[in-house]
Amino acid sequence: MAQKQAVLAVLLFLPINLVETHNRVSVEAGHEAVLSCPKISKVDLLLVTWKMNCSTCCVLSYRRDKNEINRNNCSERITWKYSPDSDPALRIYPVNLQDEGNYTCQIASVEGNFDCFFSLTVIVPPTVTLTHDTSRVAVCQATAGKPPADISWIPASNHSSEEEFHHPNGTVTRVSYFGWTNSSLPSVTCLVTHPAMNQTLDLDLRYTSQMLLYILIGAAAGVIAVTGVTLCLIFRCRACWLDKRARRSVTQTNTCKFPSSCVRRLQPPEFPERIYENDSPRSVYICLQQCKQK
Ligand SMILES: *[C@@H]1O[C@H](CO)[C@@H](O)[C@H](O)[C@H]1NC(C)=O
Ligand SMILES: *[C@@H]1O[C@H](CO)[C@@H](O)[C@H](O)[C@H]1NC(C)=O
Ligand SMILES: *[C@@H]1O[C@H](CO)[C@@H](O)[C@H](O)[C@H]1NC(C)=O
Ligand SMILES: *[C@@H]1O[C@H](CO)[C@@H](O)[C@H](O)[C@H]1NC(C)=O
Ligand SMILES: *[C@@H]1O[C@H](CO)[C@@H](O)[C@H](O)[C@H]1NC(C)=O
Ligand SMILES: *[C@@H]1O[C@H](CO)[C@@H](O)[C@H](O)[C@H]1NC(C)=O
Ligand SMILES: *[C@@H]1O[C@H](CO)[C@@H](O)[C@H](O)[C@H]1NC(C)=O
Repeated sequence: MAQKQAVLAVLLFLPINLVETHNRVSVEAGHEAVLSCPKISKVDLLLVTWKMNCSTCCVLSYRRDKNEINRNNCSERITWKYSPDSDPALRIYPVNLQDEGNYTCQIASVEGNFDCFFSLTVIVPPTVTLTHDTSRVAVCQATAGKPPADISWIPASNHSSEEEFHHPNGTVTRVSYFGWTNSSLPSVTCLVTHPAMNQTLDLDLRYTSQMLLYILIGAAAGVIAVTGVTLCLIFRCRACWLDKRARRSVTQTNTCKFPSSCVRRLQPPEFPERIYENDSPRSVYICLQQCKQK
């Protein structure tokens, strides 16, 4: 027994690494990451240890002779993918941005020690939107992507520009602006390229241009209508005023034969009061006075 322990100790601290590989693993946030060590035959396996490359991070180990699993500072999201004596692959599910980093799998076997290095990258697909504002600018936005998404336009434009915002969690929002000065352009396409997704979004510029045109026509029509009504009121009022003046001179001689019509004529109901508030009461007053005098 003591002999066996000694052999084990020698094997465990064997300074040579027989295999050293470096693997890059890229996983979308929320999905499952599986990091696989090279398989060692069950009989040969002595100890397997998974370490994340930071001093306070999770250490997960399996010792075959005692069939013992040790978890040190590991969240429940980090476990063995299979039974560790058959395949000591590491499983992280669901992956989040904090899991990104370097992982080492150390295997001690009767054949020697194996070290495998893994570099885990967590990618996050951006949320993509394509909108436009009233100043003939199409806005394509790829929100909170990791790595940043690439945005391009079809047709390619000289009038596009880009902005970038870095978030504390390592994601990046990119916004691209496409100015379409050429009104004959029927549509514009925004192309978003990202390791987790590709997306194309179309914007119909004819509809957008027509909308703008309708808004402009509507506004112009509104202005014309208001101007027209105002001018009409001014002229009618003036005509009416002249009419009243003419009528006033006439009423001086023979109004009171028709007193009711005199009063009625001076109060046309279809005119706004405002225009008449200066003229009308006086006229009425004069008229009625004349009637009383008789
Ligand atoms: C476990 O993690 C916490 C913080 O994540 C750290 O403060 C602590 O030292 C770690 N423990 C070990 C044994 O590494
Ligand atoms: C992982 O290791 C590589 C070198 O192998 C290093 O450049 C990188 O910064 C490490 N990443 C982390 C998160 O420690
Ligand atoms: C982990 O860190 C140690 C030093 O802290 C370094 O020697 C080793 O190369 C790193 N491993 C990886 C995979 O980056
Ligand atoms: C961009 O503008 C340059 C001159 O300013 C012109 O030569 C080029 O053809 C334009 N490219 C596109 C795609 O419009
Ligand atoms: C990263 O941060 C941004 C801005 O705070 C947020 O919108 C986004 O949801 C975050 N992404 C993840 C995966 O936490
Ligand atoms: C506008 O686009 C049409 C094709 O859609 C092209 O023939 C014309 O030269 C363009 N005009 C300008 C000013 O870019
Ligand atoms: C996105 O498109 C590129 C080519 O444009 C392709 O190489 C890549 O595999 C695509 N990615 C996805 C996630 O569909």
